[in-house]
Amino acid sequence: MTGTEGGRREAPAPPSFHTMWADLLPIGRHADTGGYRRYAWTAADADCRAWFQAQAESRGLTYELDRNGNQWAWYGDPEAGDAVVTGSHLDSVPDGGAFDGPLGVVSSFAALDTLRARGAAPDRPLAIVNFGDEEGARFGLACVGSRLAAGQLTAEQAHALRDADGVTLAQAMERAGYDPEAIGPDPERLARIGAFVELHVEQGRALDRTGHAVGVASAIWPHGRWRFDFRGEANHAGTTRIEDRRDPMLTYAATVLAAREKAARAGALATFGKVGVEPNGVNAIASLVRGWLDSRAADEHTLATVVGEIERAAAGQAARDGVEVSVTRESFTPVVEFEHGLRDKLAALLGTDGAPVPVLPTGAGHDAGILSASVPTAMLFVRNPTGVSHSPAESAAEDDCVAGVTALADVLEGLACR
Ligand code: GLV
Ligand code: MN
Ligand code: MN
Repeated sequence: MTGTEGGRREAPAPPSFHTMWADLLPIGRHADTGGYRRYAWTAADADCRAWFQAQAESRGLTYELDRNGNQWAWYGDPEAGDAVVTGSHLDSVPDGGAFDGPLGVVSSFAALDTLRARGAAPDRPLAIVNFGDEEGARFGLACVGSRLAAGQLTAEQAHALRDADGVTLAQAMERAGYDPEAIGPDPERLARIGAFVELHVEQGRALDRTGHAVGVASAIWPHGRWRFDFRGEANHAGTTRIEDRRDPMLTYAATVLAAREKAARAGALATFGKVGVEPNGVNAIASLVRGWLDSRAADEHTLATVVGEIERAAAGQAARDGVEVSVTRESFTPVVEFEHGLRDKLAALLGTDGAPVPVLPTGAGHDAGILSASVPTAMLFVRNPTGVSHSPAESAAEDDCVAGVTALADVLEGLACR
């Protein structure tokens, strides 16, 4: 609402959580599936970025774009140091849900508005960040923006990433109007941050089972991506005798089943969710099947054991099928144990009657996990009633989203107003 008081024009009220949410909702949403396809450096990504910049500017925040394409909105002096930063990401997996990432970014703006409406006077700068390419849906590597900033991915490695059409990350950035030669570690920017807190929709039902709307993260399981290339011999589906075939699809199928069995036995997770087939003809035996394994476990030893077992199962089956298999580790993120001091402080701050809110681990990767190697970092989770994520069916109740905003505002106030 805009009004005048004593001849002075009041600043318009910032857009509410609902308005921001409704603004973002159509961007990159696929008409048939209802899922989001907000991939790095595409038109949908550009629209999300324009939205972020407009939110920053409409609030009079200092907007910055860093050398790696991450966006920042500052309340207070960006150079002062010891800043309290919150935020998440706006990109998505293929046909992702509306909440994974955007809930954290929208809640960050809403929490800052809440803080200002309370008349809180932070004595540390606050900032909101949108990290680029968190999901790695296009170039295969997750958390590219934060990994580059934290020095966990070199510019050379990033330049070599390619999408399914052979477009390099550098070409995609250039086409989107960004300078790929500028990318690289950003220690000076990270040194300004005293604490980073990422709010995220929970991607499981652990919080739902506790009856709480908001929880705090304890740890992120170690996880990685491995590419399995199964090479056989292309041949005619109607004329090649069974005993003459070298069919990599069989080896791939057996490896998928082995992955499930090995992971289940170890209490770990193993998923082949992406596959490419050449030549991909109905009436031809494939020459190549390329499958990507995503595997996660509570500890690194278990993860290494499970992946090793899957590799051995693939090799054994390949020998029986007359197929060659090679395995390439495309990414690995070690276990993250969030800083106990900050974690416990937030759990206590958000608790009631001396009882802290739940503290939970997650199997999902986050920019907060990458940053935790450089900066004191914590995460808040908002209840997900079905636990479904990386799917258009992902959801969170409106009341829980509002509770998340209040919790984040409390956390920002608790950290920034001493
Ligand atoms: C990101 O959401 C991941 O866990 O892969
Ligand atoms: Mn995700
Ligand atoms: Mn996410």
